[in-house]
Amino acid sequence: MSYYEIQGGRPLYGTLAVHGAKNSVLPILAACLLVPGQCVLHNCPDLSDVSATLDILRLLGCRADREGDAVVIDASSLTRWNIPEHLMREMRSSVTFLGALLARLGEAELSYPGGCELGPRPIDLHLAALRALGAEILEEQGALVCRRGTLRGREICLAVPSVGATENAVLAACGCPGVTTIVGVAREPEIADLQGFLQAAGARVTGAGTSTIEVEGCAELHPVEYRVMGDRIAAATYLCGCAAAGGEVSLTGVSPDTLTAVLTCLEEAGCALHTGPDQIVLASRALLRGISPVRTAPYPGFPTDAQAILMAALAGGEGATLFEENIFDSRYRHVDELRRMGADIQVAGRAAMVSGVGRLHGAAVRSTDLRGGAALVVAGLGAEGVTQVGELRHIRRGYQALDKNLSALGADIREIP
Ligand code: UD1
Repeated sequence: MSYYEIQGGRPLYGTLAVHGAKNSVLPILAACLLVPGQCVLHNCPDLSDVSATLDILRLLGCRADREGDAVVIDASSLTRWNIPEHLMREMRSSVTFLGALLARLGEAELSYPGGCELGPRPIDLHLAALRALGAEILEEQGALVCRRGTLRGREICLAVPSVGATENAVLAACGCPGVTTIVGVAREPEIADLQGFLQAAGARVTGAGTSTIEVEGCAELHPVEYRVMGDRIAAATYLCGCAAAGGEVSLTGVSPDTLTAVLTCLEEAGCALHTGPDQIVLASRALLRGISPVRTAPYPGFPTDAQAILMAALAGGEGATLFEENIFDSRYRHVDELRRMGADIQVAGRAAMVSGVGRLHGAAVRSTDLRGGAALVVAGLGAEGVTQVGELRHIRRGYQALDKNLSALGADIREIP
């Protein structure tokens, strides 16, 4: 099993172009099913979750090829509507194929999706939204069998602003005759990116970024070339890495407006920040300070995906910070690993109190999930001595060339096979 070996304490300097957003490209790849023609997605990151999604597309009868940083998808000859369990288990976002297959073919058969272990991750809101649109869905021994039923646009309401349920409802609504109004949707920028792709392909979807989305279904979709937005969580990871290790980095290809909650925290912790339309520059010259409570919340609140990453940076600073995780029940699995590096973190239910210890020390640790793994790399960059981060398969789900990018910024990190 390979692992990253990090010699901590080297400041980071330089410029890095952030890769395309995992949480955008996965639903957009599912949305390609709606287009009976060739779509080209630029800025498509090379991640294991993307490879797994391309495998699903191929299995369904699509052409799906990578060409440099682009992928070419042709769903003209979609032949299957059932996805085997081993592919569904690879990642959570595979559930978005439900809405896409319903919209294009009127049927879908798949099992419950996998993904990071963050506590219970139900899909009841996804199913309720599709049923409200008229889909018939049977749940049999872990399998979901969906038929078009009498799909018809109407007003539906999400009880919780779930990212995945919003995406599924939007995709299914694209195949419903009439107008669908979805109230209480998630406002994450990745949903606006999905809307951007669908609009470019000729779909009539509006409202992403607000809490109501309207879809005029059954528009004729056409081939499209689309550029996926930059990954704000990957950007947060590099910023927290620099905050922890010191130095000055400039990130390009990511909109600072999508990261306001994280940037505010880093500034409060003592980092200097400058932003341009598509650029973020962070300088860190001293130990990070403890900051006001960090409470995860749906966008534009503090992203749950950045919780572990910021915690890792602050654990090696000075002063105390209270974290409150409000999105997922079990999202502190990285805490035990950070403790191996000397972190002082007390967890009680949703709360985690981090008391900065001045500097963490290197240790052998294991990624517990995607962002938890990235957090250990951040901790290792700022720590004294050598950190070995194992279980890289989690990290590869969401980061392209994390080690090489950090090396290019001056970090001493390499993968040991
Ligand atoms: C998405 C992201 C994930 C990110 C998360 C929060 C993708 C592929 N995944 O996950 O990386 O960590 O948003 O930003 O984009 N819920 C229900 N019932 C449902 C669905 C959700 O109760 O049917 C609850 C969840 O348990 C959670 C909350 O709603 O408490 C938000 O989850 P959701 O936004 O759906 O997250 P995901 O789409 O799974």
